[in-house]
Amino acid sequence: MMRRNPRAAYAACVADLLADSAVQSMRRLPQHAPGVSCFHHCVLVSYTSFRICRALGLDARAAARGGLLHDLYLYNWRDRPVRASLRHLFTHPAAALRNAMDRFLLDWREADIIRSHMFPLTPTRAYHCWEALVVSTMDKLCAAAELFRLTGLFTGADRLAVPAARSEAGPALSRRAG
Ligand SMILES: [Fe+2]
Ligand SMILES: [Fe+2]
Repeated sequence: MMRRNPRAAYAACVADLLADSAVQSMRRLPQHAPGVSCFHHCVLVSYTSFRICRALGLDARAAARGGLLHDLYLYNWRDRPVRASLRHLFTHPAAALRNAMDRFLLDWREADIIRSHMFPLTPTRAYHCWEALVVSTMDKLCAAAELFRLTGLFTGADRLAVPAARSEAGPALSRRAG
């Protein structure tokens, strides 16, 4: 059987998530560096993790979906006082998991990817699958690439996040505490 090209295979894994207004609302949230939204960051992490897991024979679909939802906490941590934004480092995986479970049926790997992506900063939330290790590693590498303006190195992934948002004026963001 012919193997689909990576971008088409990736799109098939995450199409329903990308159609969701909460996922799209991450376009309005900043992340690590100016010009790279939380949505853009999640697509970078998701697509690069998908490619690695696919090459290694791991569950690439779970990596793509967990990676796309790993930062679905839906608030602007930069608006918060210093102590709250520091707390965000430890608490946002749980907020993202709650939001993701409210909207989508997750399998155990997808949930593990979201829950553990800040490990080892969250020592009680270790990885239970290889896919979670891949996504967590790519999360850190993508964050560094964003800070140093090197996201173009992730061939293909950088362009995936560029298409215009479906709903720039989507529903209000959650006020859920991080
Ligand atoms: Fe995160
Ligand atoms: Fe992240």
